[in-house]
Amino acid sequence: MKVLVVGNGGREHALAWKLLQCSQIEQCFCTPGNGGTASLEGCENLSYAVDDFPNIADSVEKYNIDMVVVGPEVPLAKGITDYLQRYNIKVFGPTQVGAQIESSKSWAKKLMATAGVAIAEGETFTDAASAKAYISQQGAPIVVKADHLAAGKGVIVAQTLEEANAAVDELIETGFSSIVVEEFLQGEEVSILAVTDGKTVRPLLPAQDHKRIGEGDTGPNTGGMGAYAPAPLATPTLLERVQKEILEPTVSALRQKGISYCGVLYAGLMVTPEGDPKILEYNCRFGDPETQAVLPLLKTPLDELLMACIGGRLEEFPPLQWYEGSAVCVVAASEGYPGNYEKGKVITGIQEAEELGSTVFQAGTKLEGDRLLTDGGRVLGVTSLGKDFQTAIARVYNCIEAIDFPGNYYRRDIGHRVR
Ligand code: AMP
Ligand code: GLY
Repeated sequence: MKVLVVGNGGREHALAWKLLQCSQIEQCFCTPGNGGTASLEGCENLSYAVDDFPNIADSVEKYNIDMVVVGPEVPLAKGITDYLQRYNIKVFGPTQVGAQIESSKSWAKKLMATAGVAIAEGETFTDAASAKAYISQQGAPIVVKADHLAAGKGVIVAQTLEEANAAVDELIETGFSSIVVEEFLQGEEVSILAVTDGKTVRPLLPAQDHKRIGEGDTGPNTGGMGAYAPAPLATPTLLERVQKEILEPTVSALRQKGISYCGVLYAGLMVTPEGDPKILEYNCRFGDPETQAVLPLLKTPLDELLMACIGGRLEEFPPLQWYEGSAVCVVAASEGYPGNYEKGKVITGIQEAEELGSTVFQAGTKLEGDRLLTDGGRVLGVTSLGKDFQTAIARVYNCIEAIDFPGNYYRRDIGHRVR
């Protein structure tokens, strides 16, 4: 079987790497891919952007590709699945209408209200004055969000009314025409990435990521600076509640709307101090970097799982199997990220880091001749496994020290909640 992974991050490198371990996968393509997928044995990069649907469809025909796995939210929100399905191409990832679960927070909120799923209560506004009136009525802390995709930059957790009002002005000035204002939820976050064929939904191992740039979870939000799995916060009892109270009702509500959702349903949950899981957001794709911590622990062949979803056969699929132990992924970023940063720095030490006991998933990198260069904010994700978190954390930090590029920045406290 031949597979095409769409995207160019650490998540896509991890997907390609895992798929290539499956006995039935003979070749993997990645578009546009990165330096990691370019040097992965059995994998070839194509040069098409994630939203170049005609060329992606042509490549599927040209190379006899059997399945397309879509990494990022942008092509899903733009309808890549709808486009490829018109040519009878098998795609893992929801259609445009289903991807609204991530691409429109107001749409997702309405869906979850229909489903009776616990969420942060809030309202949607299209003008600043009404948003601010609502904010002063509710009081701070309060959360202001862009309704539509904002590449991780559309959420402001405001501690004061002034901050909240300024966030409203800023989002409107940036060009967001619709804004969600919602209650601030306290607690600890957990990411449950579940796969679904639109009828049955099965969670992967629970993960936690570190969204802030700074140690101690401080500073601006990023795409994610590290992740670990399985998150002990998600006890079997909590997972059972997430399945019955959140995932299953959501899939039913999607079906009632006539949406056959095939792909990942990524529940970003807050576990409140009372121990109740509430949805902060849904994503319509694998998490990044959560995928780099979760997939190395998956024993079940990933291609079979994704094909079962595409074929609507998830109910009959055997229970997922996992390796024992813990996985920790630490992201190495370019100095300045999530703000401005330079590209084109030479990266060394990946092989050494792998020899010391890790898998290095590349994100913002490109191969130029035989030189590997930085090409993005999040450059690499180094993942190590261990019999427990202490072992995995010690191992990953030993490995990441072997890696070098000018301006290399990584957090030294990934997994601090489970140390
Ligand atoms: P989102 O993109 O909606 O997941 O938001 C990004 C981050 O903002 C989340 O991971 C949380 O840390 C924080 N956040 C979002 N919504 C809320 C909320 N209602 N209460 C508290 N924190 C929130
Ligand atoms: N790690 C957060 C995300 O993938 O959205």
